[in-house]
Amino acid sequence: MMISIKNIEKHATPFYYYDINLLRRTLETVCKNASRYGYHIHYALKANFDKRILEEIKNFGLGADCVSGGEVRASVEAGFDPKKIVFAGVGKRDDEIIYALEKGIFAFNCESLEELEVINEIAGRMHTHATVALRINPDVDPQTHKNISTGHADSKFGIAYTEIEEAMAKIDALPNISIVGLHFHIGSQILNLDVFKNLCSRVVSIMSWFSEHGIEISYINVGGGLGVDYIAPETNPIPDFDTYFKVFHDNLPLKEGQTLHFELGRSIVCQCGTLISKVLYNKKTASGKNFVLIDASMTELIRPALYDAYHRIENLSNKHGNEVYSIAGGVCESSDIFARDIELPITKRGDYLAIRSAGAYGQAMASNYNLRPLPESVYSDSFIDF
Ligand code: LLP
Repeated sequence: MMISIKNIEKHATPFYYYDINLLRRTLETVCKNASRYGYHIHYALKANFDKRILEEIKNFGLGADCVSGGEVRASVEAGFDPKKIVFAGVGKRDDEIIYALEKGIFAFNCESLEELEVINEIAGRMHTHATVALRINPDVDPQTHKNISTGHADSKFGIAYTEIEEAMAKIDALPNISIVGLHFHIGSQILNLDVFKNLCSRVVSIMSWFSEHGIEISYINVGGGLGVDYIAPETNPIPDFDTYFKVFHDNLPLKEGQTLHFELGRSIVCQCGTLISKVLYNKKTASGKNFVLIDASMTELIRPALYDAYHRIENLSNKHGNEVYSIAGGVCESSDIFARDIELPITKRGDYLAIRSAGAYGQAMASNYNLRPLPESVYSDSFIDF
């Protein structure tokens, strides 16, 4: 439910507003649909690592997918079971590997042959043993924005499928690591489910290489990537997890003892978050374009500037009249524009705007650029008058 103006006025803008009820309904739905097939979900912390959000997600029993020592720490501190934590990332630092080994995480998703050697070496020094999954780059086109595609052959992510044999020979020779499974992740904001069918068929053929070589793979992790409806968040607040999981059920047959894991981020937290901002100024350009300058900027939500991403914008203070506006932030960058030439009700200084579907990669990607403060979080259940 959208926050009321009365409650907005209690907070300094800009801030992130989280609908906890919607988050819980989303978690209920994803858990119900995954458990139908016995699938496991590791929440991708990179989408949103707000403490309260993490607590809600942890309460539903999800595992965690981390890409830095900081995220491993945040998930451990939030109470996620270390045995359900996986650690991916192309550039894991030694101190991060040490920390994850100390915490006894379930697996490192390894992204290069050299990384296997480094983890082996560190585990040996620590007199411990590391379980790894090979992140294999399957060369599948995710059909999404190029900046959020990871699974094509020449991306920096994962181990080339042409190097699988060499990786396995290496693991055999390294005494302090053992392989538990395979990991794949091809991209984010994927709306065409056929892409996941293509992923499944690549996974099936890669897995058959392993069984032909007598190697048992018990853990298969197909990453995240399920997209959300940015155009109509009100109509589609919860992604279609049912159909999504069914694609994997129908196209990725599991053998006895094999488990299928997912690393969902955006689809879990995106729609529960809204960036609330106040209008500062109106101005007109020489050619007659209307600009509305707001107190949020790319430092709170960088997605429009970075990916030309669309976020629905609503005027919460006025519903009357109609005008075409471009909505911009105050940072000294020409790309600091939330939307160009959109229709909104007449929008004046002091009006509150809601920038929707901002729960994923919004607050998590906020920065201090221009020495602007980081945005705060406000939760729907901190108010009683809804
Ligand atoms: N697993 C791995 C290995 C990943 O790299 C990612 C996202 C995920 C899981 C979670 O994917 P999701 O379910 O959220 O699609 N900042 C961009 C998105 C970057 C995604 C990076 N990796 C954006 O704002 O669109």
